[in-house]
Amino acid sequence: MSAKIIDGKAISAIVNQENADEINKLKAMGITPGLAVILVGEDPASQLYVNSKVKKCQELGINSQKYVLDKNATMEELLELIDKLNNDNSIHGILVQSPPPPQIDEEKVVEAILPSKDVDCFHAENVGKMLIGKEDGFFPCTPYGVMILLEKSGIEVSGKHAVIIGRSNIVGKPMMALMVQKNKNANATVTCVHSATRNLKEIVKTADIVIAAIGKAEFVTADMIKEGAVVIDVGINRVADENAPKGYRVVGDVKYDEVAEVASYITPVPGGVGPMTIAILMRNTINSCKRHNKID
Ligand code: GUN
Repeated sequence: MSAKIIDGKAISAIVNQENADEINKLKAMGITPGLAVILVGEDPASQLYVNSKVKKCQELGINSQKYVLDKNATMEELLELIDKLNNDNSIHGILVQSPPPPQIDEEKVVEAILPSKDVDCFHAENVGKMLIGKEDGFFPCTPYGVMILLEKSGIEVSGKHAVIIGRSNIVGKPMMALMVQKNKNANATVTCVHSATRNLKEIVKTADIVIAAIGKAEFVTADMIKEGAVVIDVGINRVADENAPKGYRVVGDVKYDEVAEVASYITPVPGGVGPMTIAILMRNTINSCKRHNKID
């Protein structure tokens, strides 16, 4: 079998068109959504992600504010900035790019962001709402982006066995929560495998849908995949490649070429899940802006 490619660029363009339409409606009322993006330090991958988020804001007409703090910035400095943004009525979303440098306590930072501006859905209040299926918080950008990719590709999730590889707070755990919800686009039987799982390979091989979010380059190989399974690759890893212009290339958590021979659908890296994460971030910012302005 040769897998169909799930085109995240094309599907994110549909979501971003919906975003643009919503922004135009708000602008006609004299309202502009605002997103503050904070980067602490100089991690090159984080710099790239933050710049992509700011660029998409500019394309769509969202007011973006980018804050770059020194790699030695203190908790006090960061918390002071978050407090200022919490109290700024023109800002509807606040995001601190993860991972921050070691002196920053990420849990405290997330707790400091006003839940109503937590467009990442990292705050415990929003994570709890998501878990019980309440829709007045936010949905987390990458996991929700995966749900939309599946839905818009016409892939039935209900009743399927979804195996999630990885248990991070950003992807693995919220992915489990969204996949298991009792609604028509979810309703999966969910297994999460991780570093302590025994027989990981055998369990993944029972999956109808595999979501790879383990952060290890090309970890998922063809021998782990059931014929006809759907494979979603959340990984973004740099591997050294002396033939590449930058000295590295970007690969996912899935060994794409060989897995594409076994799977029925597969997401590429780049151009799969990545653009969806940003599209959902924009959507969350717009929804937050509407709530803060009591629209809808
Ligand atoms: N680092 C990797 N993914 C994310 C994300 O979705 N949000 C933030 N804030 N940091 C990240």
